[in-house]
Amino acid sequence: MCGIVGILGREPVADALVDALKRLEYRGYDSAGIATLEGGALERRRAEGKLVNLEARLAKEPMSGHAGIGHTRWATHGAPTETNAHPHMTDKVSVVHNGIIENFRDLRRELEGQGATFTTETDTEVIVHLITHNLDNGMAPAEAAAAALERLEGAYALAIIFKGEEDLMIGAREGSPLAIGFGEGAMFLGSDAIALAPLTDTITYLEDGDWAEITRNSLKIRDRAGAEVERAVQKSIASALLVDKGNHRHFMAKEIHEQPEVISHTLAHYIDFATGRIRLPDLPFDFKDLKRFSISACGTAYYAGLVAKYWFERFARLPVEIDIASEFRYRDVPLEADGLALFISQSGETADTLAALRYCREQSQHIISIVNVRESTIARESDAILPILAGPEIGVASTKAFTCQLAALAVLAIAAGRARGHISEQDEQELVSALIELPRHISAVLRDESDYVDLAHDLAKARDILYLGRGVNYPIALEGALKLKEISYIHAEGYAAGELKHGPIALIDEDVPVIVIAPKDGLYDKTLSNVQEVAARGGRIIMISDMDATDFGWDVQKLITIPSSHLFTQPLIAAVPVQLIAYHTAVVMGTDVDQPRNLAKSVTVE
Ligand code: M6R
Repeated sequence: MCGIVGILGREPVADALVDALKRLEYRGYDSAGIATLEGGALERRRAEGKLVNLEARLAKEPMSGHAGIGHTRWATHGAPTETNAHPHMTDKVSVVHNGIIENFRDLRRELEGQGATFTTETDTEVIVHLITHNLDNGMAPAEAAAAALERLEGAYALAIIFKGEEDLMIGAREGSPLAIGFGEGAMFLGSDAIALAPLTDTITYLEDGDWAEITRNSLKIRDRAGAEVERAVQKSIASALLVDKGNHRHFMAKEIHEQPEVISHTLAHYIDFATGRIRLPDLPFDFKDLKRFSISACGTAYYAGLVAKYWFERFARLPVEIDIASEFRYRDVPLEADGLALFISQSGETADTLAALRYCREQSQHIISIVNVRESTIARESDAILPILAGPEIGVASTKAFTCQLAALAVLAIAAGRARGHISEQDEQELVSALIELPRHISAVLRDESDYVDLAHDLAKARDILYLGRGVNYPIALEGALKLKEISYIHAEGYAAGELKHGPIALIDEDVPVIVIAPKDGLYDKTLSNVQEVAARGGRIIMISDMDATDFGWDVQKLITIPSSHLFTQPLIAAVPVQLIAYHTAVVMGTDVDQPRNLAKSVTVE
């Protein structure tokens, strides 16, 4: 998703703006630009593609202004061209925007009727012309911006600078996150604390409907109603976090390898290792009062929820209704008051998940969320959060956040089982012991990747790849397929193995690799029968299992052996080979592993 930065500095800001944009690269983008005030006049440099192109442009045409704004654009309205790249501007005002202005067509028609000339296909340009129109009518800059905001419908985070106003920047938030950072005689704006990390660790977050008038030495925030408000100033930990690739070629590889450690951190947060008991933060409901509950999330986070559904139903005998947040939010779901709604989101900013949360809030649900970013909007709008301790996840393909989400969901499911009297203290200790063994098992999976490299060369030739699993491993099949397609661009689908004969088996031939996740669990024999059907049709079978190849009764093209473990933790272990398969295949394909095309890390638009 688009990234925004703004700086009112004490020295030239162009380099610092580009550096801050680099820290937002992980969100995904396809063009970038900055605008600064050069002797009071607005100037900009923009470029298609990666930030190196913008840097090259700036090397040829440097900028020296002390006030400026910057943007990485993930195209929504109009192609990813230089013309459509932000900042957008007239000679009076320059704007960067993250979000979608839903009523831009009406506004554009109206403004064109008043003589405005549009030069881009973007929705953002209407903001520039609205403000310019207000300035032309004699309004002061802050007033002109505020009046423009009143006309906008949709989602936005905005940073705005004005001709001749060296000490003024306007920030505004509706739906898309925006942080304001405090420096010494300098102020900063950014889409998140990571963007601002080296500049400041003192941050305040705007709430929806807020807009801020920022100078180097002052900050005035007004809410939707125009009342001046105070927002908490907090110390961000983002600056303390090392955001580099370490010895790895890609962030994704680094993040895959961090899993033993970050899962340990996550478990340590919820488990008393001395007693083998779970300790959760105070929750605003009691599991034993629930008849059912709902989970909403998107993408990988949704698949984590899908695994957890099996756990909650099995260990706590608690029915779970799980939905993709973009469906849930419009489904008009009937919910009994005082129910529980659980949301899962790495970023905590996913627009659909947030909308589903707000729907549940209106339906008087208790809201809990599992998030990685504790300062995020979803975290702040929840009654309680269960943080995962994955650290910043930069690769667009979610890996360590997924397994940490599963770890947090696992402890929650055990706690629910205990609270509802379906598992004993001894069962709890057994399940907790299984969780504690996880980092060791995952380290074992990560010890040698040579098998994956060989396999990747073969998979890279495929046009379609199927992933099969049953029970808790069915969502892992879905996750494996998602991971592969998002970074290698090879078409992949995940299926419940038992569903194969209801249609997908028609796809099987010798050119379609079938990756089967089949650890020895209660459904192992059933899965094997399904795979037998694939083998009988000449399918190329790759097994991920803790069993020996000789156990299967047919030729496997490749066996990826995972450690034998407690049934409970198998999906977390099986998740790692599917990540490695996707990663190495993408490396062979030569794709942009960390920032795959068309994707964004934090999906803050619908
Ligand atoms: O930040 P969130 O967990 O809410 O993000 C949800 C999805 O956008 C995300 O998991 C996405 O599917 C990833 N690219 C998957 O690797």
